Amino acid sequence: MKHILIKLGLVIFVVVGVTTAVAAADAPRERLLLDAGWKFYLGDHPGWGGQLDKTGGGSGPVRKDFNDLTWRTVNLPHDWAVELPFDAQADRSHGYKVLGPGYATNNIGWYRRKFTLSAADHGKRLWLEFDGVYRDCEVYLNNCPLTHHASGYNGFYCDISDVADYGGQNVLVVRVDASKFEGWFYEGAGIYRHVWLVKTAPLAVVPDGIFVYSTFSNNLPGGEATVHLQAQLHNWQPGAATARVTWQILGPSGKVVAATNASANLDSAGEIQLEQTAVVAAPELWSPESPRCYQLVTTVENAGQVVDSLSTVFGIRTVAFDPDRGFLLNGQPYVIKGTCNHQDHAGVGSALPDALQLFRVRRLKEMGCNAIRTSHNEPTPELLDACDQLGLLVMAENRRLGSEPQNLACLEQQIRQDRNHPCVFIWSLCNEEYFVQRDAVGARMYQTMQQLAHQLDPSRLCTAAMNSWSGGKPDGISTVADVQGFNYLNNSDMDGFHRSNPHQPCIGTEEASAYYTRGIYENTRLYDSAYDDNKPGYGATAEEWWKYYAARPWASGAFVWTGFDYRGEPSPFDWPSINSEFGILDTCGFPKDVFYYYQSWWTDRPVLHLMPHWNWPGATGRDIDVRAFANCQEVELFLNGRSLGRQAMPRNSHLQWSVKYEPGILSAKGYTDGKEVTETRVETTGEPAAIRLIPDRDTINADGEDCSVITVAVVDTAGRVVPTASNLVHFTLNGPGKIIGVGNGNPISHEADVWLSPAAVHPMALDDWRMLKIPDLKDRPEVAAEFDDRQWPRVDIRSAAGPLAPEEAAVYRTHCSLTTNDLADAGEVLLNFGMIDDAGWVYVNGSLAGDAHDWQSDATFEVKKYLHPGTNSIAVVVKNHAAAGGVNKGGQLVFAANPAAAAWQRSVFNGLAQVIVRTDPQAGDIQLSAQADGLTEGGVTLHSQSHPVRLLTP
Ligand code: GAL
Repeated sequence: MKHILIKLGLVIFVVVGVTTAVAAADAPRERLLLDAGWKFYLGDHPGWGGQLDKTGGGSGPVRKDFNDLTWRTVNLPHDWAVELPFDAQADRSHGYKVLGPGYATNNIGWYRRKFTLSAADHGKRLWLEFDGVYRDCEVYLNNCPLTHHASGYNGFYCDISDVADYGGQNVLVVRVDASKFEGWFYEGAGIYRHVWLVKTAPLAVVPDGIFVYSTFSNNLPGGEATVHLQAQLHNWQPGAATARVTWQILGPSGKVVAATNASANLDSAGEIQLEQTAVVAAPELWSPESPRCYQLVTTVENAGQVVDSLSTVFGIRTVAFDPDRGFLLNGQPYVIKGTCNHQDHAGVGSALPDALQLFRVRRLKEMGCNAIRTSHNEPTPELLDACDQLGLLVMAENRRLGSEPQNLACLEQQIRQDRNHPCVFIWSLCNEEYFVQRDAVGARMYQTMQQLAHQLDPSRLCTAAMNSWSGGKPDGISTVADVQGFNYLNNSDMDGFHRSNPHQPCIGTEEASAYYTRGIYENTRLYDSAYDDNKPGYGATAEEWWKYYAARPWASGAFVWTGFDYRGEPSPFDWPSINSEFGILDTCGFPKDVFYYYQSWWTDRPVLHLMPHWNWPGATGRDIDVRAFANCQEVELFLNGRSLGRQAMPRNSHLQWSVKYEPGILSAKGYTDGKEVTETRVETTGEPAAIRLIPDRDTINADGEDCSVITVAVVDTAGRVVPTASNLVHFTLNGPGKIIGVGNGNPISHEADVWLSPAAVHPMALDDWRMLKIPDLKDRPEVAAEFDDRQWPRVDIRSAAGPLAPEEAAVYRTHCSLTTNDLADAGEVLLNFGMIDDAGWVYVNGSLAGDAHDWQSDATFEVKKYLHPGTNSIAVVVKNHAAAGGVNKGGQLVFAANPAAAAWQRSVFNGLAQVIVRTDPQAGDIQLSAQADGLTEGGVTLHSQSHPVRLLTP
């Protein structure tokens, strides 16, 4: 009861304390990254969870005082599925990871994260922003439920203003249930995107409350752009408020190019959307080729004081669809040279650091890809940031069709979150909903969704990725979609559709689904050859689909299934294959040969690529199928200097020779207008001799987030990558960084992507306690190391409440015997109590190790430096303020061994593997070295340079 009274006292103080002046104090808005220092436990126990009958109850990890010392420490983004082994009985679509039906012990994960708030945060509005959790999670703060969120892809917000502990420690708990699937591809498990803590004044812009888009007269760029501005405000203050919003537009060079404002009165608890327009004369247009971004700074003032300020990146450009000319960007026909992509990458599963998003976007752009489709779900915001910044158009897709409230809420969240990104050019509202896409039910559901999309975003059209239109009149979703989307020219009579629906714009939402294994040149029962030959019945080779679309401007171009290989949906094989082979690049982002087909016809750069490799021992005299991808007019092939003929390159095609094998150099020259413009060669290499480590970036930021993506190449004595090498490579790292994942793109490899340090924590219970009540706290002799407590009465500290009456004080003492090894093996030793009620001072061998003042949290102290081999004494002086008090809920010493570095290893596949290294938040040189039996060691030094750190430590 006393505790409730204390709480009430606090609440009264808070209410009195909230005034307009307090609200406006300090930095108006903070956005803090909570990714570091989470505790993670894989598993569940009966009875763990919140209570439905009473708020603030619950048991297990939900409780603030739950002891998670033995749980693993993880940083977000985190995907526990990628850490699990493979099993032939597990779900094929999800890459045979031991998750989902049949693997109950791997399906639930618990996360806990502590953070403190200052008393000065009182009166602000506080939010947690989760960018994505796979999936079905319950979120608790300080024992109280915050939300239950099912979608594995949509972000969500939790207002914690009511349940936060101001001036104290807060315990955030997330229970994640990944037992059900939302897709038919690898989806990961856990908090695999960022988590943010946002603090605002009580009069502020609501989450995703800014919308900015631009228009031109006739939707044709030229002259000035009208920029439409919206800000949605909420007044959480107890009284009415006047809000004045100022919008400033900064051009790509950072100069203010336009400004405007608007004002409104808001009642307490009132919400309002303020709207204005501004004019930008002669704007610099955004496009993939020139991704010029503007910045909108929105400032909110109340009574002359700035209470909120936030900045939004946007771009000025026009998008349109024409039934005959196809997609138009900035008024000009713009052919979509796109790729569909799922979100996982080698090594890290679906938990991609931001640097990896940039890495992937760069790879796609290198190939000439100008657009991606985020199949089949809302992407992480950082992917859209990367596309804005580096220049890729995005067809932003949601997870599924449905007009029930939950699905509409997901769509609304997605559009509100993503609509400012210039890269997003269209919303895709569903993919291959083959049960309903061609009937009236599908059409009605789609129409409801499309109406909502238009309401939330009048600047973009919507489409549906459909896969079964077969002529005649359009039906189902086709009758209502803004833009008809086609999945596979071989699934639909596209020409027939265009003929009979001449006013309907079209786009290729999905094409190809051709199969290739990197570096393999014959079909076997495990691998597909990398020649552009293999495809399923509904699919098309790169050359087939691109020729078709290149000849049909009205079809707008299309998105290849897929840019990168992804885990799950192994195609065309089953176990032991664990990932798809549709990618133009493998799961690491290593290009397959077909990459150069696209690069030839999607870029203006001179491209000449020969396949296969030229290592065919024992095959001298055998006919080898040699092909060239190139964009010059003619190609001449040479073997060991002898010309094998010059051929004209047909547009959007390839060239082919049958060559009798002999080891040596296969080379080619490319000619345009009779002049040699490019050349290339493949050489027969020697045996594997050494390892080379090649980072994508060797100077990275010491912010605890940045990554270098390192290629591991096995080379011969002449430094040539051996295209058939499969050596097992071991990695060691020294310096302020960590390996976070390894991969090699081999679709049948069951090697681990993540190597965890062996569990290194063991607890020692402290059960044998004695207690003496004391009259006051001052200079207590009973805390001395050698104090004789043998006559004191025993006390059991494992109970939920202690024996002390209000205002009583006591000393608790115990002894523990430690060996030299106990201490030598431990990196740290933690002394932990379930509860010290109300205030406590903890002494180890007579030295003060720390004090505790929050009866609701467990209390932990680092005590290694006070301990010694032999008998040690521990004393706790406790002062109880009200109701029953004392030391409760058990005590323990926890020995955390210096974590043994995980032994990272991975085989190269056809000569290559990948290691992803993340920085620690300390600058310095990071040395990665690689060893393999019989090979000269490889090494690389990464310079981790000082950089502001966003990560908040617990
Ligand atoms: C499509 C589908 C994709 C993927 C692909 C494989 O029909 O939309 O998600 O399954 O087939 O070819």
